[in-house]
Amino acid sequence: MRPRRLDDFVGQTKLKENLNIGMTAAKSRSEALDHVLLYGPPGLGKTTLAYIIAAEMGVNLRVTSGPAIERPGDLAAILTNLRSQDILFIDEVHRLNRTVEEILYPAMEDFALDIIIGKGPGARSLRLTLPDFTLIGATTRFALLSPPLRNRFGAVYRLDFYDQASIETILSRSASILKVKAKAEGLKEIACRARGTPRIANRLLKRVRDYAQVLAEGSITQSVSVEALNKLEVDPVGLDEIDRKVLETVILKFNGGPVGLETIAASISEEPDTIMDIYEPYLLQLGFLERTPRGRLATELAYQHLGLPYNKEKPPQSTLW
Ligand SMILES: Nc1ncnc2c1ncn2[C@@H]1O[C@H](COP(=O)(O)OP(=O)(O)OP(=O)(O)O)[C@@H](O)[C@H]1O
Ligand SMILES: [Mg+2]
Repeated sequence: MRPRRLDDFVGQTKLKENLNIGMTAAKSRSEALDHVLLYGPPGLGKTTLAYIIAAEMGVNLRVTSGPAIERPGDLAAILTNLRSQDILFIDEVHRLNRTVEEILYPAMEDFALDIIIGKGPGARSLRLTLPDFTLIGATTRFALLSPPLRNRFGAVYRLDFYDQASIETILSRSASILKVKAKAEGLKEIACRARGTPRIANRLLKRVRDYAQVLAEGSITQSVSVEALNKLEVDPVGLDEIDRKVLETVILKFNGGPVGLETIAASISEEPDTIMDIYEPYLLQLGFLERTPRGRLATELAYQHLGLPYNKEKPPQSTLW
């Protein structure tokens, strides 16, 4: 279901325009594309875009990830095996370790690899020339990238959550690839609950398809979607059990906040990173949560969504904790 060409990549209009200009210009100069950094919440299409860029540029793609490159030598081996204009895709690029990252600086800037030969006073440094290549880095955590690395990307693109219409388009494309009968209202209902995220939309579509097949003669209608998604405990705006736990914790245990992310995570036995990467971005996007210097704050919208009275003087009493 991964789109292979830029034309099939739905949404992210501005990003696609800028990327297309960059690629067309590089191709007409017969040069490697400038290094590209893609960042944004999980499931919005960073990996997909990396494959699309390679296909559109007509070059090879070498795929790896930050944690997979343990030593500088590992990266040196990858770099020296690239061919001119190849693309190296490093996923989770914020997780490269420091010594590996330092190899990357001259490689990105001057297509050069500095190696040290020998040890002690006799050691000398040798500079190898690398082929011109394009680095595509992807990360969900822009803030964790070191400034020297960040600054070496010629183009930095942020992926945003998709609007309702784009998710519906993605769903109808996926439905036809999966050869499942679906009514527009059925897909609309899935789109409402997909958190603006193509990966989630496709996942929900598959679950609703199962439900339709077993209980509703294979056709995805609005009522089938509603029933299936309610059964999966995905609520009308797409929140799941953990999202609701996050909000309830802030509201009921900490009187709406502000409360630190670590504290929230500990209260519901989740990793702070998981909350920060997966849950918080969408709660912020919905306007249910606010980030303040003193921690996270639940908004009036969040109270309304959970059906809790919003009264800062007289906080709602927990029946849950
Ligand atoms: N713009 C799009 N149009 C159509 N389908 C898309 C689009 N973006 C993503 N998808 C679908 O969503 C899935 C998830 O996308 P992808 O793996 O590229 O996300 P990601 O940003 O790399 O996520 P992660 O941060 O978890 O690695 C893909 O398999 C693809 O089918
Ligand atoms: Mg990815």
